[in-house]
Amino acid sequence: MLGQQFAAKINRGLPAPARAQEQRQQFGVGQRRRATRQHLFARSFVFGPVAYRHDFNIPRQDRARQAENPRIPVSYPPVMLSADSYMSAPALANLRILLGVSGGIAAYKAAELTRRLRDAGAEVRVVLTENAARFVTPLTFQALSGQPVRCGLWDESAEAAMGHIELARWAQRIVIAPASADLIARLAHGLADDLLTTLCLASTAAVALAPAMNQQMWAHAATQANLTVLRARGISVLGPGSGSQACGEFGAGRLLEADAIVAALAAMHGPQLLAGTRVLVSAGPTFEDIDPVRYVGNRSSGRMGFAVAQAAAEQGAEVQLVAGPVHLPTPAGVVRTDVRSARQMHAAVMQHIPQSDIFVSAAAVGDYRPAEIATHKLKKTGGSLTLTLTENPDIVAQVAALKNRPFVVGFAAETRDLQAHAQAKLAAKKLDLIAANQVGAGAGFDCADNELLLLWPGGKEHLARADKIVLARALVARIAALREPALGRTRPGGRKR
Ligand code: PMT
Repeated sequence: MLGQQFAAKINRGLPAPARAQEQRQQFGVGQRRRATRQHLFARSFVFGPVAYRHDFNIPRQDRARQAENPRIPVSYPPVMLSADSYMSAPALANLRILLGVSGGIAAYKAAELTRRLRDAGAEVRVVLTENAARFVTPLTFQALSGQPVRCGLWDESAEAAMGHIELARWAQRIVIAPASADLIARLAHGLADDLLTTLCLASTAAVALAPAMNQQMWAHAATQANLTVLRARGISVLGPGSGSQACGEFGAGRLLEADAIVAALAAMHGPQLLAGTRVLVSAGPTFEDIDPVRYVGNRSSGRMGFAVAQAAAEQGAEVQLVAGPVHLPTPAGVVRTDVRSARQMHAAVMQHIPQSDIFVSAAAVGDYRPAEIATHKLKKTGGSLTLTLTENPDIVAQVAALKNRPFVVGFAAETRDLQAHAQAKLAAKKLDLIAANQVGAGAGFDCADNELLLLWPGGKEHLARADKIVLARALVARIAALREPALGRTRPGGRKR
């Protein structure tokens, strides 16, 4: 990160209500549990959108109308999965799920969902929007979840018991069912104008939403554009189903049945790729002090590394995060150690390495530090100032050189010749995998999205531009896949417990 440091030079600072017409629509089509259990689900890799297929449940007269009525397609490359799979899968056991319910007649189905999630072993806390509370009562959800229900930001007694930020941290998953067109729009625009949207912004938990709305609203370009934004941020969209609507229309927009939602969540969350694995992640920049008020640093925000920590925790790993000086919330379930300088990061990493199976070095570690830190603020002399820099330890290379080493993943931040430089770093630092990213103006550093080229001995994979959490999940899946075949055999990152 020498270039970044010089570029930074001397840094002088311290650090609607829903419509009643939906009622007939929601009651109108027979989606019995038995039928639902026979349905098949499609999901994309790890956390992608889920499509619901229940065409075989559509009455014959509706099939004819369906042929005339072009619908928004809701199908994705399918990985078929039985709706009963969650019954045997412990994926949701003890998972802390925050269930958000937005306004719409389908809100009554969220009561059944609460029960089914608890049957699957999850701990459930429910948040109703103001409009949802017009359709269903908080008391119903309190009885079904066994927990107090929150409806607004301004409830003093509820805030005293568990404040909204605490609730955001408590949640390991957020599920919004039904998600109205209005709620989807507010989420897409990052609004925080009620408790549910505030929680979504304040939480690092993965979010899944199950839309429910009129087919025209679902098909509207605005709704589809909002969903594209949300999917790009890694939010999973479950369904909707399609069928007859109360208004006499036919199309997509029905809330999935409770069983279908639970099965889709279980499919997304299990089996966990890194269950029983200990992962150490470094993230963020390092600051190398010049004097009590100035430092040499770089532009890393920590987002990429924090996303990797979150993605590993989602996949069941015990995650230790060593974070440089950044102001990001700690992802749910992750244990964090804060450091400032490269040497502090080195010490923290080395302390945790003996207990780690995987090390992901996403931190932008300063290659150099001032040879001396002045005790007092350096005074302006009227001429130029020369700083003597001395080399910092190369943390990832030292870890990879250990005799009993974990699986070691490095990053490469390059401004040109991405693949060639990354390939050279992979070999020189003896890494098992390297994630290369182009950095520079508006790329890599300090932005929400990124693009990665993964290289490992004998293979490569390009991860197209996407939100950092989406990339982190794909990276974690690649790490799991690379470790899996070698488990129990001799391999470079083959630590045995
Ligand atoms: O934090 P963000 O704003 O989200 O930005 C993300 C990122 C661009 C910082 C991240 O994706 C990234 O590329 N991190 C690595 C940055 C870096 O230091 O790259 P490098 O090519 O200089 O280093 C190669 C590898 O060696 C890295 O894994 C680095 O962590 C490691 N290293 C480098 C120097 C050093 N002294 N010790 C190290 O361990």
